[in-house]
Amino acid sequence: MVTFENIANLRKYLYQARMEGKSIALVPTMGNLHEGHLQLVDQAQKVATLAVVSIFINPLQFGPGEDYKGYPRSFSQDQEKLRKRGCHILFSPQIENMYPETRISATVVKVPHLSHIHCGASRPGHFTGVATVVTKLFGIVQPDAAIFGLKDYQQFLVIKQATDDLCLPVKIIGSPIARTESGLAMSSRNGYLNATQKEKAAGLYRTLVKTQLAIENGNCDYDALSVKASRQLEQSGFQPDYFSICRQKDLQPATIKDRDVVILAAAYLGKARLIDNIRFTVNLTLPKYRHYDV
Ligand code: PAJ
Repeated sequence: MVTFENIANLRKYLYQARMEGKSIALVPTMGNLHEGHLQLVDQAQKVATLAVVSIFINPLQFGPGEDYKGYPRSFSQDQEKLRKRGCHILFSPQIENMYPETRISATVVKVPHLSHIHCGASRPGHFTGVATVVTKLFGIVQPDAAIFGLKDYQQFLVIKQATDDLCLPVKIIGSPIARTESGLAMSSRNGYLNATQKEKAAGLYRTLVKTQLAIENGNCDYDALSVKASRQLEQSGFQPDYFSICRQKDLQPATIKDRDVVILAAAYLGKARLIDNIRFTVNLTLPKYRHYDV
């Protein structure tokens, strides 16, 4: 595995690879890598000749008072994990490489209709920071494909929208959510949880599954289901931020007519802000004894 900090050197290397007919898949990350990240690397290796992983903790996507300074950093362990997994290229720029002038970006990429809801409502500017840094990474690496985890489903849609709108020639691929045995979605921020909290944390996924089952059993009062789920989370020690049953395509509130549904949730447990989601297709063959306004 080759590691680059410098953009010009990475570009030179990738130019040569492209001349040799090699294709490139990019996995953008902020480091502190876990199995969920590494599965994205596997996916990158399947779709392209070269897997490039970037590690960059992007200040632009953290709001005031968020955990930018304390975000877990474990560069040498990350490097070792990537090397063992067969990653070809690691790009780990310093902040000055990415934002040379002002340490922020004068030009930003905004995806308005997707950025102000759900996570964007509680983290103003977050998705603009994400879309901007990912667009910059696409400009630097010029990958044929880029892999993102569906754990951050809203982020995935924001990036897909920005890529389509800006006509960037990058195929955006979503990869399934990696979970621990308890069902907890893996996250770099799970390290903020102590052992008891880790056990409790799986309750977020259990609540999503319960709500999915209720919908599949014909309960279509989505507002009531969301309120109930938030209350259950509170009772289990979470501080819910939102719990929303939405359409997969645009994250607007789902109605009984929508089939492709995603339940999105964010909740604090101690210091950690956990997010998770579950996507499924509602089967419209509903039990006959109920009356639905379809
Ligand atoms: P980070 O949180 O490090 O995540 C990097 C990638 O790993 C994202 O695509 C995320 O969705 C994916 N990922 C994280 N946990 C996962 C899990 N349990 N299962 C599957 N995929 C998972 O997301 C970011 O960094 C940043 O916002 C970034 C896109 C790099 C822009 O700075």
